[in-house]
Amino acid sequence: MCGIIGSVGRGSETLDVLVDGLTNLEYRGYDSAGVAVSGESLSVCKRSGELDVLKGALQPWSLTGNAGIGHTRWSTHGPPTDENAHPHMDCTGDIAVVHNGIIENYESLREELEAAGHEFASETDTEVVPHLIEAIQAGGASFETAFRQAVSRLEGSYAVAAVREGSDTVFAARNDSPLVLGVDDTATYLGSDVPAFLEHTDRVVYLEDGEVAELTPDGWTVTTLAGVAVDKEVNTVDWESEDTGKSGYEHFMLKEIHEQPQALRQCLQERVDELSGRVDLGDDIANAVRNAGSIQLVACGTSYHAALYAAELFRSQGVPAQAFVASEYVTSPPPHSEDTLVVGITQSGETADTLSALRDAQRRGVETLAVTNVVGSTAARECEGVLYIRSGPEIGVAATKTFSAQVVAVNLIAAVLGNGDTKHEFVSALRDLPGQVQQVLDETNAEAVARQFVDSDAFFFIGRGYDYPVALEGALKMKEISYEHAEGFAAGELKHGPLALVTGNTPVFAVVTGETGSEKTVGNVKEVEARNAPVVAVTDGRTDVERYADEVLEVPAADPRLGPVLANVQLQLVSYHVAKQLARSIDKPRNLAKSVTVE
Ligand code: F6R
Repeated sequence: MCGIIGSVGRGSETLDVLVDGLTNLEYRGYDSAGVAVSGESLSVCKRSGELDVLKGALQPWSLTGNAGIGHTRWSTHGPPTDENAHPHMDCTGDIAVVHNGIIENYESLREELEAAGHEFASETDTEVVPHLIEAIQAGGASFETAFRQAVSRLEGSYAVAAVREGSDTVFAARNDSPLVLGVDDTATYLGSDVPAFLEHTDRVVYLEDGEVAELTPDGWTVTTLAGVAVDKEVNTVDWESEDTGKSGYEHFMLKEIHEQPQALRQCLQERVDELSGRVDLGDDIANAVRNAGSIQLVACGTSYHAALYAAELFRSQGVPAQAFVASEYVTSPPPHSEDTLVVGITQSGETADTLSALRDAQRRGVETLAVTNVVGSTAARECEGVLYIRSGPEIGVAATKTFSAQVVAVNLIAAVLGNGDTKHEFVSALRDLPGQVQQVLDETNAEAVARQFVDSDAFFFIGRGYDYPVALEGALKMKEISYEHAEGFAAGELKHGPLALVTGNTPVFAVVTGETGSEKTVGNVKEVEARNAPVVAVTDGRTDVERYADEVLEVPAADPRLGPVLANVQLQLVSYHVAKQLARSIDKPRNLAKSVTVE
């Protein structure tokens, strides 16, 4: 949600670095984009619309300098217009600022500044920042002091960066919004996320709340807001810059769907001993989960569906477990006991609602564990424990490979709950899963199914037990990238109301894998069929659901806990092909952003 890039030290390449960084960050927001480059003069170019609009408007000869900042926007305050695009400037045009987050006290700051004669050009909350810096500088403060003082007056969440005319220094600060430095011997970069600068360096420094980074041609420093030096660790990330490209696929989403076998292998690697059947996630995680008398899972969107799955899995191990939509968890926190463990499932590790739920738990003294994809993300750093799902960068806004890896990761946690000793059959089922996903990818008829039903009035998805979260996920994927109406239901609930929606032009995708309850789902399928709705069975052939289906999406028969992963791959592909046939913006669906860093 909004992407920030900064670069200092690349001389005549500054603009290219910024534009490449924005290209890599576009998944964080694509309403509008802009850059500011500071050399002898400060030049800004910004446009509403996707990044290509900005690229078409850039006049490189006028954007020269050794320091720059850029921004890709997902609107919060003010619609996507040229005026509301970042960077924002002060009255004299000497200071440019980009920002991700929400400045909660911007109205009072704006009133104060307007009363002092400042004229505003946009409706954004961000614009108060350059004006505030300008106002403080007018009192004789240096740019650095003015930046620090301005930031200390902001309330809310922000990752903010500023440049000034005639200076090749970038200042940046954060509170509740991600910001990371990329460092090498000749240049320093700034990004909301590592892919912003991964093609230049894999050495990173994670900023914490309340810290200020100063990027100069000579290097970088991090200090507290009060100016006290902070000793920061430089980490090396193991993502490759090629991971952030499309590798010949038409869309990131399709590439990431096809990366699932590899993602699952990475998630399992060195964690499962095939000979002994032991799962080893390290002592910290083992102690946290084995000591847990109950588990509360918090997550949003696709990750919430993984959390629902996990709750059922942990309950099957005899541990009371419940999944909560993170924003609701904060609104109405459930009771906990001394041995409750709160697990946050979050691909990005930056989702504000999930972070808020985890922090809420921590405030109440509850231990937390993050299951996340992004090393060094806020969730990873703030929770007492972290389990990485190791999927590599996910750029498509629709989560795909990370859902599958989350499901595998929570299976590893479940194995640890059972003292780490997993039955050999399950270890071998886990080991077979990547190959079975590959088989689905190789043999799928999802494109033909999508073509057959693309003109439907709505799409419904049903499932029971472990198949239920997949029904919800199938519907979420369909609605977010095709913009078609789609709903997922617990199969048994259909007859309690939703059945009224079912017509001859509303296909029902029935997810029927494993054994437990599957016969009952077949009964629900018959109810649908009797109302003339087309039925698409997503099945491993363990029931006779195919007899009542118009179309079948087959999956290999797997362990009942893992079959839903395979069914989900089929549904990902159906959504992808429906969206493609409708010519939707698959990797950047309207109104959405990958990492939602506001509540
Ligand atoms: C849907 C999707 C979102 C995310 C949700 C949580 O395809 O990607 O629903 O799952 O915004 O994001 P994370 O997992 O980063 O916390």
